[in-house]
Amino acid sequence: MVENKSPKKALITGITGQDGSYLAELLLEKGYEVHGIIRRASTFNTARIDHLFSDPHEEGTKLFLHYGDLSDGSRLVTLLESIRPDEVYNLAAQSHVRVSFDEPEYTGNSTGLGSIRLLEAIRMVGLDCRYYQASSSEMFGATPPPQNEDTVFYPRSPYGAAKLYSYWVTRNYREGYGMFAVNGILFNHESPRRGETFVTRKITRAVARIKAGMQDELFMGNLDAVRDWGYAPEYVEAMWMMLQHDTPDDYVVSTGTDYTVRDFLQLSFEHVGLDWEKYVKFDERYLRPTEVDALVGDSSRARNALGWVPKVLTPELAQIMVDSDIKALEAEGTHYIDKVVKK
Ligand code: NAP
Ligand code: GDD
Repeated sequence: MVENKSPKKALITGITGQDGSYLAELLLEKGYEVHGIIRRASTFNTARIDHLFSDPHEEGTKLFLHYGDLSDGSRLVTLLESIRPDEVYNLAAQSHVRVSFDEPEYTGNSTGLGSIRLLEAIRMVGLDCRYYQASSSEMFGATPPPQNEDTVFYPRSPYGAAKLYSYWVTRNYREGYGMFAVNGILFNHESPRRGETFVTRKITRAVARIKAGMQDELFMGNLDAVRDWGYAPEYVEAMWMMLQHDTPDDYVVSTGTDYTVRDFLQLSFEHVGLDWEKYVKFDERYLRPTEVDALVGDSSRARNALGWVPKVLTPELAQIMVDSDIKALEAEGTHYIDKVVKK
């Protein structure tokens, strides 16, 4: 007899973000029914997932979007009650470190309290699901590298402090209520879908525009910061692996390599044959009141327990992102010619 097993259901908060979009792709490929929470906005905010979306009235639709917000606890309860997911991925956050100094209270509310609202909603509904918390290497802050799961936390921003709160409540719900709740402590990961104000994407967009003659200066902050930049599609795979493991645990996900912001500038400009020093200028507005000098992760636990290994390292990542931004600009140009010039 053929067993008629219904597909696993996943709920993703932050599905419209960089990671949410790659995770939704991965889970759909694996046959999951995917539900995502989106915020109501006066303009469309689903550009990163539009390619995954089909007519909701069609049979066989596997992606469902629901309005909601991590600041709205009762909505989280009703959504969990009606969807009853097997896996919950909590990726939603005010995720920009510099912005968290401008909006510390809001960042605490969404990036910190948002997680406990979701965990508490799961508990109130009595759902037997697995929970992933998007924790961050930013929690290590001032503690020098290499950083692993046993490294002392020392956050240096309202964002880092809010993430640390979420990290601890996730562990508390695991230990206190026996929930399968895990923290993925992810180091910086980037892609062509990275938000335009994070440093890598800011650089690769500028390189494309400078190469096209549309820009001749790039204003930057601290070029000495060291980061461990990996490739986002590989990092969402690690999230999924954590929830498939027999037992819940916390994992660092990183490449173990160290590059400065200056290195990333050089790799990106050199890829199109330009000298970065001719274009980059300093602007103090991009400095932070407290900086995180160096983040370099040791992901041995993820490698040994999950078999997760990073493949794309920073030099290739810079090339992927520059090439993608050049292509996007060319497509924009074609669109402009079609729309305006050929009219
Ligand atoms: P991102 O591109 O900034 O996406 C953030 C997502 O959260 C967006 O979908 C955003 O919705 C949503 N969101 C923000 N506030 C919300 C709220 N109050 N209620 C519901 N949704 C809300 O971030 P990402 O790079 O994909 O990162 C995913 C998660 O991993 C974040 O929690 C981030 O802090 C964490 N993280 C990221 C990295 C990294 O290097 N990328 C490393 C470690 C940890 P809108 O589209 O409507 O704004
Ligand atoms: N954004 C930005 N813009 N950063 C700059 C600039 C600039 O013009 N100039 C220098 N930097 C430096 C920052 O000071 C920081 O040291 C480094 O570049 C990286 O900045 P971001 O790309 O904004 O990332 P982040 O490391 O602060 O935070 C990201 O990684 C965390 C994981 O460690 C975010 O994705 C967080 O959400 C994530 O948790």
